[in-house]
This record gives sequence, structure tokens and C-alpha cells, in this order.
Amino acid sequence: MESREEISYVSQQEAIEIDHMLMGPLGFTVDQLMELAGLSVASAIGEVYSSSEYTRVLVISGPGNNGGDGLVAARHLHHFGYKPSICYPKRSNKPLFAGLVTQLESLSVPFLPVEDLSVQLSSNFEIIVDAIFGFSFHGNPRSPFDSLIRRLVSIRNQQHTHEKAAVIISIDIPSGWHVEAGDVCGESIEPDMLVSLTAPKLCAKMFRGPHHLLGGRFVPPSIIEKFKLKLPSYPGTSMCVRIGNLPETNLPAQKGIFAASVSLEVEEDPIDQFQKWFGDALGAGIKEPHYMVLSTAGKDAKPSSRMISLEGINKYGFVWHTNYGSRKAREISENHHASLLFYWGPLKCQVRVEGFVEQVSDEESDQYFSNLPRDTQIRPIVSKQSTRIHGREGLYQQYKELEEKYHDRTLIPRPKQWGGYRLIPDFFEFWQGEESQVHLKLRYYVEEIDGRRVWRIHRLVPKLAESASSL
Ligand SMILES: Cc1cc2nc3c(=O)[nH]c(=O)nc-3n(C[C@H](O)[C@H](O)[C@H](O)COP(=O)(O)O)c2cc1C
Repeated sequence: MESREEISYVSQQEAIEIDHMLMGPLGFTVDQLMELAGLSVASAIGEVYSSSEYTRVLVISGPGNNGGDGLVAARHLHHFGYKPSICYPKRSNKPLFAGLVTQLESLSVPFLPVEDLSVQLSSNFEIIVDAIFGFSFHGNPRSPFDSLIRRLVSIRNQQHTHEKAAVIISIDIPSGWHVEAGDVCGESIEPDMLVSLTAPKLCAKMFRGPHHLLGGRFVPPSIIEKFKLKLPSYPGTSMCVRIGNLPETNLPAQKGIFAASVSLEVEEDPIDQFQKWFGDALGAGIKEPHYMVLSTAGKDAKPSSRMISLEGINKYGFVWHTNYGSRKAREISENHHASLLFYWGPLKCQVRVEGFVEQVSDEESDQYFSNLPRDTQIRPIVSKQSTRIHGREGLYQQYKELEEKYHDRTLIPRPKQWGGYRLIPDFFEFWQGEESQVHLKLRYYVEEIDGRRVWRIHRLVPKLAESASSL
């Protein structure tokens, strides 16, 4: 697996030029490239999601070549043992696309009109392939793709709260993202898997899902040389190769082995207990276990909650980063007490943490900021959290201006309105539910003894629960 830093990311213009070279002097046809793209996508899906567990696949195809890649992928997926269905609302009448439709129809792959898709896509499909827009798309998505994209966004939100949600796989570009700047509004699809084609586009640097793969094992040396591309080598005879790892975090490394449940051993220090359960969550394959609910309340005592990404944990507490002009920041400045909540559904686990919040030092925020990729550094400068925004184009314009301003790789200063907070815990509750209704409940309270923080453990295990509500 190659690290992100060692791989080239190409701009929209470079991607267009690469295509022109491939289909010009290098003798490829669009049919061939589409076939290779679709095969790479189907292979990537096969590598990560087994057909026995993730059988039903919905491919949403857009009107252009990205849609064609999706149609080819669907044909291969059928032959790999999946059950694909297609939603292809704006069909191209070019012979290439008509041929792909005929091929799928001959395999009895169903084509579903948008109106026939159930509201809850996750109840009918385990995988949704986003083959709506590719790297040449610009502007705002039109009907019916705008509402289809919104449905994919809502699945993503559902994943944070619900155990059973379809996984989303985007082909080359998550639809709705800008090909270079990514999800500038912070409101678009967040796929579980991105399959970049030929070379990852700049927006892929902002991909934070667990599976980033590259397909397109055919790039001739003249293209590599001309565009100075650094691409990973493909293993064996594979049509795809993995790029990058789980979301960047300084939390425990991903474990290869899948754990069936959390460890029931009790640590004296709740931070150690948390680290152990967090490791178990990663080991169980839970996606993004570092997302947590942060609840705050200002001087009016009205609570507010939102999802936040945990960026660091050590013996002093839990750190996240945000905009210091946001609502949560205002509430924290008025009342330093807050709570965090982690929920790891497949393990039936919940961890509650309460404590006192402090702003981390400027040096600590600077250090964290300086280690972020440059395009990720520009986003918080553009972002005005908890304030009204005036359209995607305006934000993108501002993003481009900043990109231009810092194109010579001068140091990007951390925006003053952005930085870290740390919650210093004084209470933990570790809860694990069991089918048998015997629940583990472990509480830690802090006590000050001779100026030292000492943890007291209340172990309420095993306890026969009278009813779920009594917990
Ligand atoms: C999964 C997920 C992770 C998020 N992570 C962060 C984060 O790390 N920092 C942040 O400021 N906002 C994050 N957000 C956005 C927040 O939930 C929230 O919308 C934003 O911070 C504004 O909140 P406020 O107006 O209550 O301050 C995340 C949202 C989601 C859905």
C-alpha cells in the first residue's frame, strides 16, 4: 500500500490532456478505456466487499462516460456473482452506450426508473455505485441527479446512526464534489470507497473514507513521463491497487484481525480502557469509530449536539478541531462542561465521556494545522461555520483565490478562527449490550486526592437488566 504523499494527484486540465493523449497518439478508443475503467471498479468492489455479504448493488449512472463506466462495472459485477440493478435516467443514444444497455438487458439486469427506487435505498441494496459525474463535470447537478445525490448524502448520515446502511462507492469523483477542491460546501456525498481511475484527481486528497483504490492498469510510459506521475505498482494480476489508509488520526493503528466483541477486562485508567475498546472497534471493521457526538450548553442551559471527529487522545484528554466562531465554541466559552458520546453499533457499545473543555495552545493547533495537506488547510480559511453561506460558487471562488495565493508553497498560516479543544474527562461510562440482556456497565469517576486525580471504578457487571429502559 502506498502512502498518499507518494502518489501524484492530477488537476482537471491534466486529466483532460491525459485522455486526449490516450485517445489520440496512443491509440486507445473510448470503448476500451470504458471497459478497463468498469473492470477496475468491479475488481475493486470484489476486493473489498464480498458478493455473499454485499449482494444487491444499485448502479446510478449519469449521462456521460462516468455513467458508462458504471454500466460496464455492473456487467462485470453480474459475472462476479453480485446482483446489480441500474438506474440510468438520462440515457445517451450513442451506439457505445446503447450496446452496454443491450448487454445488460441480455443478462436480465433490471433498469429501474427513479420513481421506482424506494425511499430507503439501504433496505434494497447493500452497495450503491455512484457513477453519476466524472472529472469533466462542472456546475451544479440538475434534476434528477440533484435529488439522487441528496439521497446518497442521507445514506451517509444514516451510517452514523444506523447499523444497516448501504455502502457508497464513487467512480473517480464523488458526484457533487469539485474535481479539484472536493466537497467545498461540506454537504456532498462522503463515499465509503473511491475508485480513482488512471491517476487520482486533486479532490481525492480530501477523501476520508476507509477504501481508496486506483484502477486503470494500462498507463503508458509516455504519459507517466510527460505528467511526471508517481503511481503505485499493481499487485500480481490485479486490476486495482489500494492507496492510503484509514482516516488520518493519531489513534491506534488499524488492526487486521476482526474482533467479535470488546474486551471485558477492566483497566484502572479509563483512557486505557477507551483505547482498548477503540482498538476493538477498529479491529471489528467499524468504519470511522473516531466520530463522536459532542454536546455543549451555553449560559442559557439549552443543550446542543453535533458530530465531531476525534483527532487525538492521550492521558490529558480528547482533542478535536473546529471553528472558534461556531455555536459550540460560543457555548464552550460560556460553560466549559461538555460531553462526548461514541456509539459502535456492530459491537453494541457505547462510551460516554464528560468533562471540562479547554482550548488547546496556539502552538498545538499550529502544529496540527501544519501537518494537514495544503488543500485541507485552505478549507477552514474558507469555512465560516454556523453562519449563512452564499452559494457554492462563491466559496469555490474564494478557495481558488487562496489556492492561487499559496501556489508557490509558501507557508499557509493557521486561520485565527480555527483550532483545537481538549476535553479533560471527569466521568466515563462504558456500556456493552448483549442479546442475553446481561449488560456490561462500567463507570469511572475522578476524585482529587492530595492534588492528584484518582479514578474510582464502579463496575455494574454482569447485571440482569429488568428492561432496556432501565439502563
Ligand atoms: C461525521 C461528521 C464529522 C464532523 N467532524 C467535524 C469536526 O471535526 N469539526 C467540526 O468543526 N465540525 C465537524 N462536523 C460538522 C459538525 O457536526 C457541525 O455541523 C459544525 O461543526 C457546526 O456545529 P455548531 O454550529 O454546533 O458549532 C462533522 C460532521 C459530521 C457529520
